[in-house]
Amino acid sequence: KDDTALVIGLISASGSGDDTADAAEPTLAIGDGILDDAQATAITAALTALQATGSHGEITRIPAPESLSVGLVVAVGLGDADNLDDHDQVRQAAGIAARELDGLESVATTLSTVDLIAAAEGLFLGAYRFDEFRSEKSKPNKTPPQRLTLLVESKSKEAKADLERAVAVADSVAIARDFVNTPPSHLYPEEFAARARTLGSKAGLNVEILDDKELDAQGYGGIIGVGKGSSRLPRLVRLTHTAKKSPKKVALVGKGITFDTGGISIKPAANMDQMTSDMGGAAAVIAATILAARLDLDVSVTATVPMAENMPSSTAQRPGDVLTQYGGRTVEVLNTDAEGRLVLADAIVRACEDDPDYLIDTATLTGAQMVALGTRTPGVMGTEEFRDRVAARSADVGENAWAMPLPAELRADLKSRVADLANVTPHRWGGMLAAGIFLKEFVPENVQWAHIDIAGPAFNTGGPWGYTTKGGTGVPVRTIAAVLEDIAEN
Ligand code: BES
Ligand code: MN
Ligand code: ZN
Repeated sequence: KDDTALVIGLISASGSGDDTADAAEPTLAIGDGILDDAQATAITAALTALQATGSHGEITRIPAPESLSVGLVVAVGLGDADNLDDHDQVRQAAGIAARELDGLESVATTLSTVDLIAAAEGLFLGAYRFDEFRSEKSKPNKTPPQRLTLLVESKSKEAKADLERAVAVADSVAIARDFVNTPPSHLYPEEFAARARTLGSKAGLNVEILDDKELDAQGYGGIIGVGKGSSRLPRLVRLTHTAKKSPKKVALVGKGITFDTGGISIKPAANMDQMTSDMGGAAAVIAATILAARLDLDVSVTATVPMAENMPSSTAQRPGDVLTQYGGRTVEVLNTDAEGRLVLADAIVRACEDDPDYLIDTATLTGAQMVALGTRTPGVMGTEEFRDRVAARSADVGENAWAMPLPAELRADLKSRVADLANVTPHRWGGMLAAGIFLKEFVPENVQWAHIDIAGPAFNTGGPWGYTTKGGTGVPVRTIAAVLEDIAEN
């Protein structure tokens, strides 16, 4: 016997049609030619004896039948047979299995015979760990398997390409997660920009970085205003993937606040540590642009990423200050904690100088996103058609961004006594939408635009679930990737 474990999918007996409850047994989800009948029967019998039901995410371990070369079989519940057509059900089940496999050297799975792409993505996403900041002594002694084998009924070029894509996607999500999980002591604008340069260059992207002096000289008042309370000075990073053929251009913009104290409008101490995730949008657009290059998508993509640390100090901006955004519009900063929209406005104006066809910005922008939609569902706003397209692609990949409106009447509440615009409304109603309305002011009419608020979904503070481990989630890398693929192919 070798030390490989075999992960198989188990379909729940319930909903199988016949209601003879006592005869109901869960069934194995395996492709032809992978297990022989005797092996399948033995495994099903053992699982039934252990009262495995096949409910979604259930994990059952059994010793493998003699005739198999592996020693251990791990069954993961896929739920009802209907679930097999739902990529995210398979992806989540694979992710749960991957989180249970620590300590095993090598794992083979038949989940790939159900849905190769979903199984691969789920396994790789679920096997993500972040232990960079544990010393040797406190590193977990069990690590995820070093070797994953995805069994298929027959090898094909197509299967190989699907697998390569899944690996690329999971690697890219891991880049975003690593950025979010790196603490603000170690990831501040200068360092963030340097890491983006290293990863971007390696992926073949064109990289351009503006430092604080250049930002100041060129009139990036939003980024400078937000960043000037910190000794860690701001940056603006631009990464470009150039299409081989297509003239289509997508601009990506991501909020890169490496830590958000709120500034002078300081946040309460409780949970302030979570503001390490306030660069989740930046992390996602950097990762998605790297992925566009790796998949060689036939669409040009430029990420414009403002990076700043929002700190209170004697050099910080004050409530009541007026700043001039890049491009010349003035904003009265009534609340220094509404800083994301200030850095994004500069970046959006810069990004749109390139005349993109589409603009996607994403940001951990408002606590109101979580009030409206909870911690796992991003809100997507913007020009209606493109907004709905982004929501649809997001549903395809299981990130589930939900379309939200931009009610025009909120614009009046952003009027300032002294400047073109105030950065907050005098009330808290529709806070996510009001932030979207603010950004809309800076988006040219002819650009198809989607704004994705990921305040909750970027960072998992609860327990792990599915393929989502604690900490940075990498949302919405896969949504953006799916939209870029959609644009490149259609
Ligand atoms: N980064 C926060 C939003 C946030 C809150 C992200 C919780 C993740 C979890 C953002 O900069 C912020 O502070 N927004 C304010 C806006 C308000 C002052 C209009 C908020 O949501 O309270
Ligand atoms: Mn804030
Ligand atoms: Zn913030």
